[in-house]
Amino acid sequence: MAIITIPDEKRTLEDRQTVTEYLAVIGIEYENWDTSRPVRSDAPAEEILAAYSEEIERLKARGGYVTADVIDVNSQSPGLDAMLAKFNREHWHDEDEVRFIIKGRGLFHIHPKTGPVLSIEVEAGDLIRVPRGTWHWFNLCESREIRAIRLFQDPAGWAPNYTESEVDKNYQPVCFGASYFPAPNAVS
Ligand SMILES: [Fe+2]
Repeated sequence: MAIITIPDEKRTLEDRQTVTEYLAVIGIEYENWDTSRPVRSDAPAEEILAAYSEEIERLKARGGYVTADVIDVNSQSPGLDAMLAKFNREHWHDEDEVRFIIKGRGLFHIHPKTGPVLSIEVEAGDLIRVPRGTWHWFNLCESREIRAIRLFQDPAGWAPNYTESEVDKNYQPVCFGASYFPAPNAVS
C-alpha cells in the first residue's frame, strides 16, 4: 500500500481511501491490486505479463497504451547509478508514466502545478499513473530494487524532459516503509 508524505506540511497519509483521493485531486491515478497470483514475483517477464493480463488490457483500453513490459532494476544492474541519475531530477514526459509494482520499493516525488510537493512510496501491488506533463522525479529505496510492469502509449516518446528547477534538491529521497509508522492511519 502506497504511503504519501507531504514534507512541507509534515503530513503522512497511508489510509487507502485517503491516499487514492489525495492523488486523484492532483490527477494521479492510484490503485492497489491483489497480488495473490499463481506467479512468483521473480518469474520471467512473460509469465508476469500473463498473470496480470486482465488488468493490463483494462488499462490499455482506458489509457490508449499499446505495449507493456517488465522492468527489472536491482543493485546488480549494470549502469544502475547512471540510469537512476536520469530520473532523480525533476522532469516530465510527453507520455503517461504507468507503473505496477511487482517487487521492491520506490519513491516518486510529484510537484503539482498548484499545491505542495509530495512523495509516493510504492511497493508490490501498487499501480500509479503519472499523467504526461506532470513534474516528478524518482528514487529507489534502500534495497535498491524494483520490478514493475510498465505501459506505454508510444515507447519511442518516453524520455525525460528536465525542468532544471532543482526543486528536487530540497527533498530527501527517504523511504520509510509501512513498519516505520506505529499504527494504521498515523498522521504526523
Ligand atoms: Fe519519469
